[in-house]
Amino acid sequence: MNIKKGLVFVWPLSTRIIHWIIAVSFMGAFYTSFYEPYLDIHVALGWIFGVMLGYRILWGFVGPRYATFNTFKLSFDELVWYFREKIIDRWRKIPPGHNPASSWYTILVLSLGSIIVTSGLLLYGIQEGKGLFAFLNDRYYMYMSEFDLIHRYISYLLGVWALIHITGVLIEQFYHKTNMLFAMITGYKKSEGPDTDISMYGRIASYLFIILSVIAFYYIVSTYDNLITRSKFPPVSLEEVHRVYATDCGTCHKPYPAYLFPQKSWERLMNDLHEHFNERITEQNISIPARASIQQYLFEHSAEHSTREAAVKMLASIGDAAPISSSKVLYWRETHAQIDPSVYKRPSIKSRANCAACHIDFEFGVLDDTKIVIPKE
Ligand code: HEC
Ligand code: HEC
Repeated sequence: MNIKKGLVFVWPLSTRIIHWIIAVSFMGAFYTSFYEPYLDIHVALGWIFGVMLGYRILWGFVGPRYATFNTFKLSFDELVWYFREKIIDRWRKIPPGHNPASSWYTILVLSLGSIIVTSGLLLYGIQEGKGLFAFLNDRYYMYMSEFDLIHRYISYLLGVWALIHITGVLIEQFYHKTNMLFAMITGYKKSEGPDTDISMYGRIASYLFIILSVIAFYYIVSTYDNLITRSKFPPVSLEEVHRVYATDCGTCHKPYPAYLFPQKSWERLMNDLHEHFNERITEQNISIPARASIQQYLFEHSAEHSTREAAVKMLASIGDAAPISSSKVLYWRETHAQIDPSVYKRPSIKSRANCAACHIDFEFGVLDDTKIVIPKE
């Protein structure tokens, strides 16, 4: 039974919407991954992608005709035949549901996608100290780069995989002329077989998921410090934890978070206060007892004692050296490589060392990706 002659109704509206949500959330997350300040949006898109994948996997068991995994064609011989037939018979008939190539395609998207989402959540917890797995930060911070690699390269793989899929659809559209490009828009395929039979409950469940994903996206990006993006590193008021450091070292610049440098850097800096970046800091400026107390605070909170991303990566990048200026450190130069040198000459910035000009709440020890705004002038 077909509503339209010569066409099979394969993809109900909810399925089509979800297909496009999966595609768009992946592409959006891919794009925003290249811009640290968009991390919240990246995470929100990743969540939607993950929830939709979960839904699709469930759908593979309880969904309507053409969607379930038991209709997938996964034998190797069928796959080979699929490509052979493509070459020898341009006008071959296409099946209404998944063909062998698209069956494998879907299985791989669901598998790679699950790895991407899981590694992303773990990376967010371990590296940023945020999200569901923030509690894993202090145990596994030393592996943050490994999680980054997995998350990144599996995503690239899925990106390539998606391009292959798009190429396949275009070949169907323009060479085989099966009008495949529009199947995920109209829901119809030029094929033979019964129309799909989505149940009332299936329909309601699908739309609930769609509505939920929109609400989740809005919630994640529009509220700061929410359940999904909350950091395990709350802003620290130096005035409260070490007033002498905050006031004595805060006269010329905002005090730098102790976790930025290792102990040996702080030692060198405190020993050389008489020639501090062309400034002469005397005992009248900062007394001997104050210096001792500041040094103790800096030592106790230096990079070695922190599991924050900036501390771990600065420390790894510093090696045996004892730099006292961030912009000398390779990691710093890499993270700021996209910024044109002329930006630092802007009147409200003036210097690379003026971290607080771009990093909001810097003096509270915050170096969040989402708290960066480069002043326009
Ligand atoms: C008399 C003014 C003055 C005081 C007081 C002062 N500093 Fe500085 N500090 C500077 C100047 C100037 C720079 C260089 C900024 C630049 O390069 O634009 C600087 C740079 C730094 C930097 C380098 C940051 C970076 O990553 O480039 C650190 C760290 C630092 N100061 C720590 C301290 C500490 C700790 C104290 C207190 C013991 C202190 N400063 C007190 C003037 C001061
Ligand atoms: C001109 C503005 C500007 C100044 C000044 C600046 N930063 Fe940044 N910083 C940025 C931007 C923008 C990024 C994000 C780059 C990106 O998108 O990868 C960043 C990224 C970082 C990161 C990496 C954050 C992460 O989680 O990946 C660290 C750490 C950092 N900055 C520390 C500093 C410190 C320390 C200073 C001062 C010595 C400083 N920055 C000065 C703009 C600035």
